[in-house]
Amino acid sequence: MPMKSVYLDNAATTQPAPEVVASMTEVLETHWGNPSSIHEVGRWARVRVEEARQHVATLLDCRPEEIVFTSGGTEADNLAILGVLEQGQGKKTHVITAATEHHAILDTVHWCQNNGFDTTILSVASDGRLDPSEVKKAIQPETALISLMFVNNELGTIHDIAEIGRVAREAGVVFHTDAVQAFGIIPFSVADLNVDLVSMSSHKIYGPKGVGALYVKKGTRLNPRTHGGSQERNLRTGTENVPGIIGFGNACQLCMERLESAPPAIQALRDRLEKEILETIADVSVNGSRMHRSPGILNCSFKGCEGEALLVGLDMQGIYVSTGSACTAGSTGASHVLRAIGLSLEVAQASLRFSFGRYNQPEDVDRVMEVLPKIVHRLRRMSPV
Ligand SMILES: Cc1ncc(COP(=O)(O)O)c(C=O)c1O
Repeated sequence: MPMKSVYLDNAATTQPAPEVVASMTEVLETHWGNPSSIHEVGRWARVRVEEARQHVATLLDCRPEEIVFTSGGTEADNLAILGVLEQGQGKKTHVITAATEHHAILDTVHWCQNNGFDTTILSVASDGRLDPSEVKKAIQPETALISLMFVNNELGTIHDIAEIGRVAREAGVVFHTDAVQAFGIIPFSVADLNVDLVSMSSHKIYGPKGVGALYVKKGTRLNPRTHGGSQERNLRTGTENVPGIIGFGNACQLCMERLESAPPAIQALRDRLEKEILETIADVSVNGSRMHRSPGILNCSFKGCEGEALLVGLDMQGIYVSTGSACTAGSTGASHVLRAIGLSLEVAQASLRFSFGRYNQPEDVDRVMEVLPKIVHRLRRMSPV
């Protein structure tokens, strides 16, 4: 009998929903016009793009005109940070972020640092959380922007975005959150968060890759990153990725329908795997906050094992997990997130991330538990430490 594979890397990307694939195929066949064309073919494409914008806005609980489509979370993060700083016209030159952010934020902030802006990179506690009072202390008269993620992609740790947003609002500083790992995954309303800018990505929520969005609260001033055209209210010019946008909109609709039921079902699987790992395998520690955590993510360190070796061992058995962020997989060294929460190099390198999604089943946990303890045992026997 062929081995059934188990996909537990949903924080890296998700399998596109069949409904999404169907909606994209349909729009490629029927409504393939340029949304900027004024004839009927273009007008139909425009109707479909605006419908999709409405679906994104409904899931975020904002107005459709506050949604700017981008090529994904990375571009949305870049647009938020560089767009705000450039808008400041040299008067407000300081940006605050944290050490556990995704590279889409950290590398952009480092670029700012190398190009004349001032930056503060806050440290986090050992559970990966950030104290809002630390954010308050870091604010200066020149602070233009605070950018802090909603859910950490490696640990699943959830920051208190509403409270940090309140601090930012009180100080009159623009607040951006990278919500790529929260949007469509945990229920929230942008209205409750005191945020000005929110990054989202389609491929984390069963939509296609290469499309995402930035929420720009009405009245937030932002410079564009692209020039040449007037699409997306001049903020992201260039002909729209119509099939991608339609797929993203459809993915949002499907998430909306499942927003109450999906997180508990996913969490039950994650919690069962965590419990069984801790009961069956010795010397395992769970990384990040267990209380403030996204329902699908489990990050643990297996003392005496190389995370990469565990990953390869599981891969050979058709079980797909990650040692950290997919965007940095293959690069040497330990995860900057695990190091930032204070793990030693050895413990950080002994870590695996399991991330559950909509299509996982209880049998997936059974299969991991059939295979994982044996691999850990074998690696520990071979390990010199
Ligand atoms: C927290 C976070 N931000 C940004 C991104 C980048 O999103 P995209 O792949 O759509 O560019 C990711 C993707 O892993 C992420 O997890």
